[in-house]
Amino acid sequence: MSDLQNDRPKAMQIHLNPKNIFWCCVIIGFVYLAFLIWGKDDKFPELAVEIRDVISYAVLAVEMGGHAVAKIYQENSLNIKSKGNTDVGKEELLTRADLVSNHLILGLLKRFPAMNVVTEEKNEHMSESEVEKYRDDNYDLWLNVRGALEKIPSQKYDFSRMSIWIDPLDATQEFTEGLLEYVTVMACVTLDGKPVFGAIYRPFYNETIFGLVNWGLMNSQGEKIALKSPDKVPKTIIVSRSHTGQVKDLADKVFNGTYTVEKAGGAGYKTLRLINGTAEFYIHTTAIKKWDLCAGDALIRAAGGELIDLDGQPLDYSPDSEVVNKKGLLMAIRNPYSVLSRIRNHMPPK
Ligand SMILES: *[C@@H]1O[C@H](CO)[C@@H](O)[C@H](O)[C@H]1NC(C)=O
Ligand SMILES: *[C@@H]1O[C@H](CO)[C@@H](O)[C@H](O)[C@H]1NC(C)=O
Ligand SMILES: *[C@@H]1O[C@H](CO)[C@@H](O)[C@H](O)[C@H]1NC(C)=O
Repeated sequence: MSDLQNDRPKAMQIHLNPKNIFWCCVIIGFVYLAFLIWGKDDKFPELAVEIRDVISYAVLAVEMGGHAVAKIYQENSLNIKSKGNTDVGKEELLTRADLVSNHLILGLLKRFPAMNVVTEEKNEHMSESEVEKYRDDNYDLWLNVRGALEKIPSQKYDFSRMSIWIDPLDATQEFTEGLLEYVTVMACVTLDGKPVFGAIYRPFYNETIFGLVNWGLMNSQGEKIALKSPDKVPKTIIVSRSHTGQVKDLADKVFNGTYTVEKAGGAGYKTLRLINGTAEFYIHTTAIKKWDLCAGDALIRAAGGELIDLDGQPLDYSPDSEVVNKKGLLMAIRNPYSVLSRIRNHMPPK
């Protein structure tokens, strides 16, 4: 009896000794690591990421990039006026806005070192001091969009399946012309080469629209966006400002003159026109880069629509895919395939 009583405190002493607890933790740690490394069919563990985190950073990125675009525009329009030198001024303005926005966006996305990021200006470098004054405080930005982002459902995916496509300044030509309503900054998250999330920011209107596929569309106040009923959508086809003629001829044949063809700059802007029901189709027949399209593709899918090329295929955004889409495009919230078959009947055979 007395032996037992003496034993107990001893056993407890050994158990609570900090050294033993430490070694116990070390051993458990190693066993856990070994389990992680060898537990899954001898493969190195994949890194899973919460898509909500990626989305938060994508939204912060477009807003920070967009704020820089707006600030640079204001500075430069003052410069251009004072120098009286428009052409060179435009060139400088564009390059700076593009590169600073790109730099800030890539900086934020470094938070995910394993993430594949596809962007036009990937190899251009700017000095930190040059971009520093355009950098917003992450926390302030986040406070603005917190309400919206909290509503996004939680889902985890492996990094290797995801990539981010960014367009640091869409509608660059219009930007240099001062047609600021067309200018957007876009980011798109893809999973297995398909768009799942898109964010389009309008720097001169301080508006962000984002869409998560199979979930819906939202603005930065966290309000869900409802689609206009089909009978309220005008019979308008929105097309690029640079190749209007070709699409107008096609549209006149396909719709027998019942649709209005409207020119506008920027693929991001054109997508937003479909989203708010002020145009029904977006048609493009010449080559276009995929970073111009990815975010809009995600938004239109989130709205229940489609973006397809004129062969009827969805675009592939795998990071190693061709960045130029040469097959034209049709974007529509409703009936894309029936319209496509009408278009194809009027296209010259290949
Ligand atoms: C931009 O909009 C957000 C709300 O979405 C607001 O909190 C912020 O103050 C606005 N910024 C400017 C410069 O108007
Ligand atoms: C096309 O429109 C014209 C009048 O604008 C009309 O006479 C013609 O019947 C229409 N054709 C078709 C196939 O609907
Ligand atoms: C529709 O969206 C475009 C692009 O964001 C905007 O310029 C336009 O004012 C909007 N129109 C309506 C009626 O909401």
